[in-house]
Amino acid sequence: MQHVLSVLDIQDQISDILKQAQIFKQGHGTVEPLKGKTLAMVFEKSSTRTRISFEVAMYQLGGFPLYLSTSDLQLGRGEIIEDTSRAMTRYVDGVMIRAREHQDVVKFSRNSRVPVINGLTNLEHPCQALADMLTILERKGSFKVKMVYVGDGNNVVNSLLLATALLGMDFTVACPPGYEPDPEITKEAFKIAEKTGSTLEVTPHVQKAVKGADVLYTDVWVSMGDEEEADQRLKDLQAYQINSELLKLADPEAVVLHCLPAVRDQEITEEVLNGPQSAVWDQAENRLHAQKALLYFLLKD
Ligand code: CP
Ligand code: NVA
Repeated sequence: MQHVLSVLDIQDQISDILKQAQIFKQGHGTVEPLKGKTLAMVFEKSSTRTRISFEVAMYQLGGFPLYLSTSDLQLGRGEIIEDTSRAMTRYVDGVMIRAREHQDVVKFSRNSRVPVINGLTNLEHPCQALADMLTILERKGSFKVKMVYVGDGNNVVNSLLLATALLGMDFTVACPPGYEPDPEITKEAFKIAEKTGSTLEVTPHVQKAVKGADVLYTDVWVSMGDEEEADQRLKDLQAYQINSELLKLADPEAVVLHCLPAVRDQEITEEVLNGPQSAVWDQAENRLHAQKALLYFLLKD
């Protein structure tokens, strides 16, 4: 049973999934390949892009998406996640879960009869990384580029570390001390990078890191679940904003990415978010194409 809880789970298929995503984006590919298939989409946290893109992806592939909020499920009243999985996966062909704790998605997958996709946890956001790689491929034509992430070393960064390492892209994470990405994932990504030839770096020196970058990326300073630490985070991350001044240090052709939602004048300024170098709206659109490819790969007969 193939689950996609981490980018590592698609390490052998990531290039093929991206190729398939391009085929779907061009309007080609098998017609309704998932006819008769149902995807349960379980959300423990808010979502705009993930919910809509998965729902539309299933519809466009001929299948049926089922939106389930944990507060409406018995899970919200204390039914354990293992039992939820045992029952739910008798009805559907696949499950996408957005959960607070990564371990909950692991527990769900261990009791599942069908493929489980991580739609974001505190540890990873693999579907986001797929759309990001698709966007970079479109804008830059290859993965032989240098991407620099500026800000909090969170779930999105963990998945980006693995994806860039697998695809041989150079990737630097510029973050304040104490905000580094997950140490285990970082270790794993560095190990993969040794084989693929990508250069990875985690550094507090933002200006130096950004010099000559082809892609700049950021995400919110306060992720879902980090709200109690908001005041401290806003102070600690002040120097890690993508603004026009920082963007000038990158390659003149550099593109800017953000997984969204964005908080203007925290991690990014309006001027950059909607400026000529921004690719964020294409990036948001690419969630749909990348996930269609992922669903096709996991659920087709
Ligand atoms: N980027 C992303 O996952 O957005 P949502 O939280 O709106 O799904
Ligand atoms: N790091 C953010 C990503 C939102 C898509 C969060 O976890 O809230």
